[in-house]
Amino acid sequence: MALEKTFAMIKPDALEKGIIGEICKRIEEANLKIVGMKMHKLDRPRVEGFYAVHKTKPFFPQLVAFMTSGPSVALALEGENAIATWREVMGATDPEKAAEGTIRRDFGTNVERNAVHGSDAPETAALELKYFFDQNEIVQYEWM
Ligand code: CDP
Ligand code: MG
Repeated sequence: MALEKTFAMIKPDALEKGIIGEICKRIEEANLKIVGMKMHKLDRPRVEGFYAVHKTKPFFPQLVAFMTSGPSVALALEGENAIATWREVMGATDPEKAAEGTIRRDFGTNVERNAVHGSDAPETAALELKYFFDQNEIVQYEWM
């Protein structure tokens, strides 16, 4: 087991539903610490950069429109195996295919409006954290 950091996002559909608190509660119940948190309304270039890996996919234009449609919350999470743990708590991309009790199963609307984002590997976690947070915006808990 390793102490890791990962990047998470609470997407505009979840803010519209008023479930920031519920999602943060599930993060904390999974023994993940929120070590960075900021709210913003992303503009097009920022979303296009964030999701650059998907830019040739047919769903890309719609995804960019969705992610710029309203405010979202960027989070830095820390914990044992944080990357895999957070992916597990989120559930599969498509809420219909996500396991019982996962955030996407419980709160996702469809494969696009699926409430949350999570980095999928150490490399992407490092890149995505850097994309959204300066070093001094991520706290270090002495007691962790
Ligand atoms: O978010 P995750 O890593 O589970 O899935 P992804 O394959 O990296 O896709 C990124 C995001 O694109 C998803 O979370 C969805 O919001 C969106 N997407 C979509 O709109 N339609 C698809 N068929 C697949 C993904
Ligand atoms: Mg992904």
